[in-house]
Amino acid sequence: MSSLYKLSTTIRKLHSSAARFTKNVEFTAVRYPYLKRGSYSFLSDRHLRFFQSILSPHQVLTDEFNDLSGYNVDWMCSVRGSSRLVLRPKTTEEVGAILQYCNAQNIAICPQGGNTGLVGGSVPVFDEVILSLGLMDAVISVDELSGIAIVQAGCVLEKLETVLHLNNLTLPLDLGAKGSCQIGGNVATNAGGIRLLRYGNLHGSVMGLTAVLANGQIMDCLSTNKKDNTGYDLKQLFIGSEGTLGVVTQVALHCPSKPTSVQVGFFGINSFDNVLETLRLSKQSLGEILSSCELIDQSSMECVTSQLKLKSPVNDFPFYILIETSGSNADHDAEKLNSLLETLLKNGTIMDGTLAADSTQATNLWALRERIAEALASEGYVYKYDVSVPIRQFYQLVDVMRAELGSLPIRCCGYGHLGDGNLHLNITSQEYNTVLLNKIEPFVYNWVSRQRGSVSAEHGVGLKKRDYIEYTKSPTSVYWMRRMKKLFDPNNILNPYKIFPGSLND
Ligand code: FAD
Ligand code: MLT
Ligand code: ZN
Repeated sequence: MSSLYKLSTTIRKLHSSAARFTKNVEFTAVRYPYLKRGSYSFLSDRHLRFFQSILSPHQVLTDEFNDLSGYNVDWMCSVRGSSRLVLRPKTTEEVGAILQYCNAQNIAICPQGGNTGLVGGSVPVFDEVILSLGLMDAVISVDELSGIAIVQAGCVLEKLETVLHLNNLTLPLDLGAKGSCQIGGNVATNAGGIRLLRYGNLHGSVMGLTAVLANGQIMDCLSTNKKDNTGYDLKQLFIGSEGTLGVVTQVALHCPSKPTSVQVGFFGINSFDNVLETLRLSKQSLGEILSSCELIDQSSMECVTSQLKLKSPVNDFPFYILIETSGSNADHDAEKLNSLLETLLKNGTIMDGTLAADSTQATNLWALRERIAEALASEGYVYKYDVSVPIRQFYQLVDVMRAELGSLPIRCCGYGHLGDGNLHLNITSQEYNTVLLNKIEPFVYNWVSRQRGSVSAEHGVGLKKRDYIEYTKSPTSVYWMRRMKKLFDPNNILNPYKIFPGSLND
């Protein structure tokens, strides 16, 4: 099995960190003229001298001597800040000293991990100083017995996985961006991904963390206890708060044992009713070994095969499902998946299907699902929606949106984490087009809200969805979120313009 992991992660790394054409991206301040810069200090020589006095030269990157476009532009090439300074601390204490100074000097900060975020949260909107965690990449300790790994926040997920495998452990989360995203960024976004069905989200897997608050204070919540009911569980506040409440510098993660058997099946299906039946039967017959259940629709499949020249072994169906099992007994797991395939074929729930015979085939099947984001990005501008909806309504939104948009976009497609009710609705056009955007939003969010779904299932709110948070959360909840933000960051220096609509003083 180790070769399976090795192959698949290498592919992920190549494509999630692909060079982007960052220079042609329009500035956020131009594209969204209604955004107004807060009354923060402008960077001065005096500020720079301070940072240079507490950090080494390679930890302070200025636009005078460096090309900062890779830090200012997001992975989707859809937003672009104009930061002139990137700070790269190596320790929690350095982060503390930076934030203490920025708070006193009223300097806005944008924390940045691997910059793979998909909601415009990881790059500055204006000239915020970028606090890049990339040099804090140590795996501090791994304990096979307890399954606890303690890691610095800037550790790339794939690197952590490699170390865990050497200790017979694996990550409780996995995502297509693992070659570039960092564990701190994952915690800050409460990233989901393809194993959430099995291991749950990071609110359950993170045992502890260290966060630096806006005033520079270090909050040590780095517990490794699975059970701890002493008062409020403050670490949870930083999981999913997207760098607005504090900077995560260390994480204690509970990691499951590495499965010794991973099986992958890939099915072609002719109706959405049969997609649901496949999910039901997979859950029922695979039980505890089911680790992923992913959906690809025909249009997504067309995009990934044509743009990236990939081949699918199962063709010409409206829907495809990828099922993965992870367990400890290869014969037992293979027998279960085989018998599921037979049943589904026999009763006509699926029309065609294949099981990966080896790790290369499994990797190739996963590429059809995991590389859709990359394939869509190569088609032009992507309007990306990541919603939670009740499972029976999972695909309706794609049909409704297609009817609404007609021939305006290049494509309107749906894929995602079916087993978790998390649809990725994606629409592409040659370039950014406000006529199309205005037809999609707020229509899409109204629809999701009517189903009592979530306008962000796993990617977060960032800048792109901040005007829609109340389509999912009640006004009272948002009011208390704002109060919490004010309490933790009274000067609003941490990732301003993100998560909340309007100005934070509203
Ligand atoms: P960044 O993009 O750098 O930052 C994300 C947010 O977290 C920003 O608001 C930033 O300010 C904040 N932040 C980063 N580090 C810290 C820190 N140490 N402390 C405080 N705040 C911080 N997401 C999923 O949930 N599931 C998927 O399956 C998935 N697949 C993806 C596939 C591809 C190809 C790509 C490009 C992205 C995918 N994503 C997915 C989105 C993205 O990878 C995740 O949101 C990831 O968790 C971001 O991690 P990062 O290190 O790149 O963070
Ligand atoms: C995925 O599941 O592929 C990611 O969340 C990226 C995307 O939504 O495109
Ligand atoms: Zn996803």
